[in-house]
This record gives sequence, C-alpha cells and structure tokens, in this order.
Amino acid sequence: MNIRKPPKWALKEALTTPESVFANRREFLAGMGLGFSGLAAAGVLLGQEGPSTIPAEIDPSANLYPVPRNAAFTLDRALTAESVNAKWNNFYEFGSHKEISGAAQALKLRPWMVTFDGLVEKPFEIGIDDLLAKMKLEERLYRHRCVEAWSMTIPWSGFPMKDLVALAKPLSSAKYVRMETFNNPAVAPGQKQTWNPWPYVEGLTIEEATNELAFMATGAYGKPMAKQHGAPLRLAVPWKYGFKHIKSITRFSFVAERPVSFWEKILPAEYGFWANINPEVPHPRWSQATERVLGTETRVATLPYNGYGELVAHLYKNIKGERLYT
Ligand code: MTE
Repeated sequence: MNIRKPPKWALKEALTTPESVFANRREFLAGMGLGFSGLAAAGVLLGQEGPSTIPAEIDPSANLYPVPRNAAFTLDRALTAESVNAKWNNFYEFGSHKEISGAAQALKLRPWMVTFDGLVEKPFEIGIDDLLAKMKLEERLYRHRCVEAWSMTIPWSGFPMKDLVALAKPLSSAKYVRMETFNNPAVAPGQKQTWNPWPYVEGLTIEEATNELAFMATGAYGKPMAKQHGAPLRLAVPWKYGFKHIKSITRFSFVAERPVSFWEKILPAEYGFWANINPEVPHPRWSQATERVLGTETRVATLPYNGYGELVAHLYKNIKGERLYT
C-alpha cells in the first residue's frame, strides 16, 4: 500500500485558519465595495484579534492580498494571534527589546528599491512593486523558532526564494546569496549605535536559497507585511533560527565567499553561518531542547530542523567539521 507519511510539520486542518475564511473575506470586501486598502485606510484591520494599535497606512500592494494558500505548507499547531505576533519582535534597527512595533512605523516603504549584484549575468535594481508583479504570490503557514527559545506560527504571504534567484540569473561561480537590510539611522535609531556592524547582513548557500522551503515573505495574515516584521521584503527559512530571517531587505549579492552575518560578527562564539535548529545542541548559555509557544502557556519540545528535516536535512549531509547548529 502506498501511504505517504505526512511530514512532522504537516496539517492538523482544524488548527489552522481555513482558506475559505480568507476567500470569504475577499467576497465580503468586494460586496461592500471596499478593497482591503479601503478598510485599512479606515483603520479596520481584519484577520487579527481585537483592533490593531498599529496605525493603518495605505500600501500600494494591499490589493494583492490575501493570496491563495499553498496546502503543502501547513501546521500541526494553531496560528499565533496577529495581536501577539505584532507586539513581540526582534528588529534591532528600532531597539534591542521586543516592543519596537511603534518605532518601526517610521520606516518608509515606498520607494523601496532592491539591488541585485555581484556574480550575476547583469546587475540591476528593481522597485518592490515591480518585483511583486513578477512573482506568483502564495500563502504558507510556517513555524518560526527564535534562538532565544520562543516560537510562533505565522501565515506568511510571498513567493519562493528560488523564483527570486532565477530572476537574478547568478553565474555558476556564485556560491552564496548575501542579503542586506536598509541602512538609515535617521529612521532607525538603533543604527546610530556605531558599535554594531550595520547594516544587518545574512547569507544562505545557493542550494539553501533554492530549496523549496526558502521563502521571501512580503505579507502576513492576509495583507502586506507589517513594518515590525520586516516589510516590504523579508526572508523566512523556518528550519533555521530566527536571526537568519533578515528583514526589510534592500540588496541581494551573489558571491563566491561565505558572507559573515551581523550576529556572527558581533558574537562569533555564539552565532554562526548555518544556524540550523537542533534541540540537542544547546546555545552556549541556554538549552535549545524546548521552546515557549508565544500566545499560549505551553512549552513544547523543539524538533530537529524545526520539523522540516525531510525537506532540508539532505543539504547538510556532506558538510563535515562545521558548526551546523549554532
Ligand atoms: N532582521 C533585521 N534586519 N534586524 C533584526 O534585528 N532580528 C532577527 C530576524 N531578522 C532581526 C532581523 C531575529 S533575532 C528574529 S527572531 C526575527 O527577525 C524576528 O522576527 P519577528 O519580529 O517578525 O518575529
């Protein structure tokens, strides 16, 4: 008998928001003669519990959302309420604590140019709305596990990173993608702290970046990404600790040398390039065996590769003598 064993991160349908909720919402809005942006402008934010305290702003990409869910990426636990997710963030550009959502609203999202350079056929720059127009958007429910041993589950909208790599047309000499966040201390007070190596930098191998699971998130909860989550373009690689998920990206450089990331530069003994999730390899200062599920009272066991091993473990089979899990 050919029974496909569901992967560890797959489906308990009752626990997730059914697609029909999003579909019905679209019909409801259409019936009222309002696109989502109309409601957002009126300060009405749907898909979240309770009113948002984040000021609503018209985003030119608002009418692209919600997008169809890719049923291959669903979850075995409930989604984290948007109201929880929106108020617990790591975004050091706006402060080294979790309540940066207010400060992050200073980020201006348009114009937002994204540069593609390095070992590519032809370097280019593209505005975020032109980039979005080239991509097929979908929704994926992903886990998110921070190295600080807390976790969330998020309905990201966006597109596979492999589509972005295809657009960039890297040369065969490119081995890594180096990503960079905006750098504007006038907007982001954290960037005035000159002891930190701004801008925030992260990197992936080309094999990681083109793995099916690597996702460029442009929205969440059925609408454009909130600023505090890294609008308008952020990485979601759910088998890796959260610090790899670089926010508000402005540059993708295709390079031959392994990039040194922001946290690796600051604390190389604690944070490395790979940062794959492994409950058996503790952080030098705390255990990674369990995680606190935000918005709940529960602490659950952390899974190797955050439960996504079937999709990604093969990427690391031949890598020897490296710290794959820190
Ligand atoms: N990206 C930038 N540019 N700056 C940051 O401080 N923090 C990282 C990651 N991306 C960070 C970043 C960390 S440590 C985590 S856990 C996640 O963003 C948090 O994402 P969230 O706030 O959307 O949950």
